[in-house]
Amino acid sequence: MNSNQANGQREQWGSKIGFILAAAGSAVGLGNLWKFPYMAGKNGGGAFVLVYFVILFLVGFTLMMAELVLGRHTQLNAIGAYRKISKAFTWVGVLGVLAGFLILSFYSVVGGWVINYVVKSATGALHTTDTGALGDMFGQLVGGTVEPILYHGIFMVLTLAIVFGGISGGIEKASKIMMPALFIMMIILAIRSLTFEGASEGVRFLLAPDFSAINRGVVLDALGQVFFSLSLGMGCMITYGSYLSKEENIPQSAIVIPLVDTGVALLAGLAILPAVFAFGFEPGQGPGLMFVTLPAVFAQMPLGRIFELIFFTLVLFAALTSSISLLEVCVAYVVDEWKWNRKITTMTLGAVIFLMGIPASLSNGPWAHIQILGERGFFDTYDFIASNIFLPLGGLMLCLVVGWFWGIDKAVFEATNNGRIRFGLAPIWSFLVRFVAPVAILIVFIRSIM
Ligand code: PHE
Repeated sequence: MNSNQANGQREQWGSKIGFILAAAGSAVGLGNLWKFPYMAGKNGGGAFVLVYFVILFLVGFTLMMAELVLGRHTQLNAIGAYRKISKAFTWVGVLGVLAGFLILSFYSVVGGWVINYVVKSATGALHTTDTGALGDMFGQLVGGTVEPILYHGIFMVLTLAIVFGGISGGIEKASKIMMPALFIMMIILAIRSLTFEGASEGVRFLLAPDFSAINRGVVLDALGQVFFSLSLGMGCMITYGSYLSKEENIPQSAIVIPLVDTGVALLAGLAILPAVFAFGFEPGQGPGLMFVTLPAVFAQMPLGRIFELIFFTLVLFAALTSSISLLEVCVAYVVDEWKWNRKITTMTLGAVIFLMGIPASLSNGPWAHIQILGERGFFDTYDFIASNIFLPLGGLMLCLVVGWFWGIDKAVFEATNNGRIRFGLAPIWSFLVRFVAPVAILIVFIRSIM
């Protein structure tokens, strides 16, 4: 227990930059490095990026602001925050914590694959241009029984070790080391990728919108991606916001965090797609883009083994700064409400999530035949329920609670530190949070579950 908790005060971020790095760390993750490039690859490149930007502006910034404001105002975890507004909304917070459990259960499995790929790149095991062999290698790992579970366990242990240290001593400290390292490595990789002959085709693919490629599926994917990538809709930013001091400038943070997140997603696209094109591979590869296509690309470039090791280490850092935020949502609830000790809570929840992840891992191999929801196995079911149902529903409720029930005037008052700082965009934000964002989410949400 640190001194703040001892005298009954809530722990706080140690510095403004520490908070920004931690929140951006939560947002920047596998969603940016693994999912964004292949989603763009699959959905027509620039067309997807364009739709993503529109949704980012209308919904992303708006919800980021709403979560941070709600969290700092209540100084509580996701469940406590909603309950403080009204008991009728406790369930929204519960959905959020459940989403955290579900997402971390499969996220950590993928995190485990990444650790395995860090090891593989260090030993040179991936050094081949034969995508068939690389595909087999990937298939063997994810379809295995003991190995992927073991790596999932290692990833969980790393996550626990950070969350153990609390807010400023654990999450903030880790983010302050890993996030700058990640930026530097990303930029090196993007420069390397952009200087290949034939790279411009990849850039064109990512940035030139082909309007004919925009359809309902693209819009749906982009909305889901905005939620997932910005860590919205499950109270993650409520929880992080609850550790903010009353002096912090929330409107500014709510703009910086999504910008950093989007910047990294684009950088990831620029690091991956030009190289993919330059070496004559297909961008629409799907989830295997990072684990199968990229190693083949690295194998062809000078010093490829070093770049490969840098790349997978970077992915691991990004995944960890996100997984700690997912765990913190659950830990904050138990520590706040049940008054448990942080370390015991972290270990207990970590163990539960590890166990829940086992079926998710097995569903890519020995349990592939077990169907839980439609044709989905455990892994896809967790992902679908959390990302396609809980997050949008949580986001919709967030807009209604902040924009209508709690009251937009009170929200703006909190956002301006009780009238002490300027928030010029307040009228626009109020309009977006009350009308535009909920309607947009509702339309996409209804279509997606039908
Ligand atoms: N934003 C993270 C990513 O892009 C994932 C995440 C989702 C983290 C929800 C926290 C909450 O990988």
